Amino acid sequence: MQYLIKNAMVYMDKELTKLDVLIKGKKIKRIEKEIDTSDATVIDAEGMHLFPGFIDLHAHLRDPGNTYKEDIVSGTKSAARGGFTSVCAMPNTDPITDNIASVEYMQLRAKEHGHAKVYVIGALTKQSKGEEISEMATMKSGGIVGVSDDGWCVQDARLMLSCLRYAANFDIPVIVHPEDYALAGKGQINSGRIATKLGLSGITPLAEEVIIARDIMLAESAGARLHIAHISTVGALELVRNAKTKGLPITCEVTPHHLVLNDEACLDFDTNTKMKPPLRSERDRLACVQALKSGLIDCVATDHAPHADFEKEREFDQAPFGIIGFETAFGILYESLVLSGEIPLSTLVDSLTKNAARILRLPGGEIKTGVAADLTLIDLNATTTHTKDNILSKSKNSPWLNKTIASRVKYTFMNGKITYQDSEDD
Ligand code: DOR
Repeated sequence: MQYLIKNAMVYMDKELTKLDVLIKGKKIKRIEKEIDTSDATVIDAEGMHLFPGFIDLHAHLRDPGNTYKEDIVSGTKSAARGGFTSVCAMPNTDPITDNIASVEYMQLRAKEHGHAKVYVIGALTKQSKGEEISEMATMKSGGIVGVSDDGWCVQDARLMLSCLRYAANFDIPVIVHPEDYALAGKGQINSGRIATKLGLSGITPLAEEVIIARDIMLAESAGARLHIAHISTVGALELVRNAKTKGLPITCEVTPHHLVLNDEACLDFDTNTKMKPPLRSERDRLACVQALKSGLIDCVATDHAPHADFEKEREFDQAPFGIIGFETAFGILYESLVLSGEIPLSTLVDSLTKNAARILRLPGGEIKTGVAADLTLIDLNATTTHTKDNILSKSKNSPWLNKTIASRVKYTFMNGKITYQDSEDD
């Protein structure tokens, strides 16, 4: 199969140039000013932008075990609608992905039925219980790209040190969900004025920062690669800045929602504003935006966390933590940060593509001849309204439900195949 994408503004090396792109089989065959061929299906991309397929280091696909919320097929369809061509699946499935058979199940299912490339993150500890090191070396031979107990956090510093040493031996990156349980307590949202006003118990930024400080020290001692998931506070950024200044191999990601919303979004008790870490103060949000701009934050990752309506439509303190993220990630960031002039388009695109790929050494993230045709074609002048009917995730737990957002994904290609094509007429 061949596709000829004509007259797109093609994003390469931070530049946008009007070009034609020929896809042949799985790869990008040619990128030129004018390509003429009668063998290819032509896509008129006049006025549209062609970006490398987005890469998400942090998603919950819920498969196996909680497939009423999401499964590998629906999750990757949702990813493709958001322009993603690669996603990393967190291991908090049921059973937990802590052994090679579970890793192989996900890989096989994704390969046969997926609409995006799925890279598996194995559990850091057995059953993510934070008691014993997982079989991470065996899982690495099966192709995991990192280990994490995301959703949970190893509380025992001695065990964490052993995990980091073990991971370092096999050169496996460790992804930490930084949360000290005693400090977080039964908190529902960020601690502070809004929590007090709503009568909800708060989660102090210290719950995140204490673990980041601990794990940076432990990772340094172990010589391990540490990636910090969903960073969200001024203090956490300071710790990462110090670690990077020392030259330690520490990286971090931020979610789209922590870049766009603050804890005031919780004021009407919408459980789709409840997640971990919680939405923080405006000061924290602004610090995250600045850190993304300066490169202190390495990439954006969605933390796509589907939950069913019956779970989210409950009293605030009974609802689970988490929101979906694939389908709105680019649009909300483009609208809130790029159109407003807070960050350049190149910062947004790089943080969703090559910068993310670099952290877990994944392929992809750039448009050039000879590489896999993982691409997303976006109309930046159009808009998307997200409704329960058109969201492709099985779950609809998004603060942007029924909202209209700038930009619209028109096509997504993975290995030269169309994985999403805009067919909506709204
Ligand atoms: O809000 C969250 N939900 N944060 C996490 O780290 C886990 C996730 C989930 O799995 O639902």
